Amino acid sequence: MFASLVRPLSKGSQITKVLVTSNNVAKFSTSGVLRKDYHDILIESHGKVGLITLNRPKALNALSSHLFHEINSALEKYDEDPNISTIVITGNERAFAAGADIKEMVGKSFADVYKTAFLGHWGKINDIRKPVIAAVNGFALGGGCELAMSCDIIYAGEKAVFGQPEIKLGIIPGAGGTQRLVRAIGKSKAMEIVLSGRNFTAKEAEQWGLVSKVLPVDKVLDEAIKLGQEIASLSQPSIQAAKESINRAFELSLKEGCHFERKLFYSLFALKDKEEGIDAFVKKRDPKWTDE
Ligand code: CAA
Repeated sequence: MFASLVRPLSKGSQITKVLVTSNNVAKFSTSGVLRKDYHDILIESHGKVGLITLNRPKALNALSSHLFHEINSALEKYDEDPNISTIVITGNERAFAAGADIKEMVGKSFADVYKTAFLGHWGKINDIRKPVIAAVNGFALGGGCELAMSCDIIYAGEKAVFGQPEIKLGIIPGAGGTQRLVRAIGKSKAMEIVLSGRNFTAKEAEQWGLVSKVLPVDKVLDEAIKLGQEIASLSQPSIQAAKESINRAFELSLKEGCHFERKLFYSLFALKDKEEGIDAFVKKRDPKWTDE
C-alpha cells in the first residue's frame, strides 16, 4: 500500500511521483529522469532544484556508509539530469546530521579503515559540477558539519548547532573538517573548535563566515530552495564556471587562481548566452538563456 509523502510544500513546489511504501521504502521519479529506490534519503524536485532530505531520524541522520552512498547516488543523478540545475541537501528540525555513524566504527582497526579507504566515498560531493546548498537545522556535528562544509553555500536555522566533537571520541575529523574549517573561520577559531570539541551556534557560524544566512527554523529550507531557483534561472554554463573558479581558490596561489579565472572568463565568450546576456543588457530587456 502506498501513501504519499511527507512535508508540507511551499507554494509552487512540486513532487513528481514520490511514494512511500508501508515498510518505508521510497520510490521516486523526479523530472522523469532520476529514478531510484532509496531507504535513508528522500528525493523531491522543486522546478529545477533537486532536493535531498536525509532521512534516518532515529539516529539523528548519522551518516552511515549506506546513507552516504545514497547521497552520492542522488547527487550524481542530479548532476547528470538536464532538468535539474541546483541541489539542496537538508535534514530535519532536530538534526542535519549528527556525524559519521559512530556505531559503524566500533571494533574497526587501523588495517580495516586503511585497507578499505573508510570514508573515501565521502569525497564524491566535491566532483559535483552543479551548485549544492546545505539547509541546516538542528545538529550538524562531526561528519554532519563536514558534509555541510562540503556544500557550496550553507543556510542555517537559528537553532542549528555546529561542531567537530571527534576529539571527544579519541579521534579527529576525518572528512575534511580540519581543512575546511580553518579555511572558513581561520586558524585560532578552528583550533579552539577542533581541539576542545565545543559546539558553536548558527549565529557564530554566520559571524565567522561559515554560514551565509541564519533564518527562522521553518524558513531555512524554503529559502534554500528559493536561492536554488534563483541560481537555476541564470545561464548554467557560467554558473558552473563560477563555482569551478571559486573552488580553485582553495587549491591555487592568488596569481594562479586569477590566471585560471581569466582563462575561464575568456572561454565564456564562446557561449551564445554571453551574447544574449550582453545584448539583453544593452537593449534593456530580459535575457533568454539557452545554456549554450
Ligand atoms: N552515530 C550513530 N548514532 C548516533 C550518532 C552518531 N554520530 N549521533 C546520535 N546517534 C544516535 C544515538 O546513539 C541515539 O540512538 P539510540 O536511540 O539507539 O540510543 C539516537 O541517535 C539519539 O541520540 P541521543 O539519544 O544521543 O540524542 P541526544 O539529544 O541526547 O544527543 C547529540 C544528541 C548531542 C547529537 C548526541 O547524539 C551526540 O553527541 N552524538 C554524536 C555526535 C558526534 O560525536 N559526532 C561525530 C561522529 S565521528 C565523525 O563524524 C567522524 C568524521 O569526521 C567523519
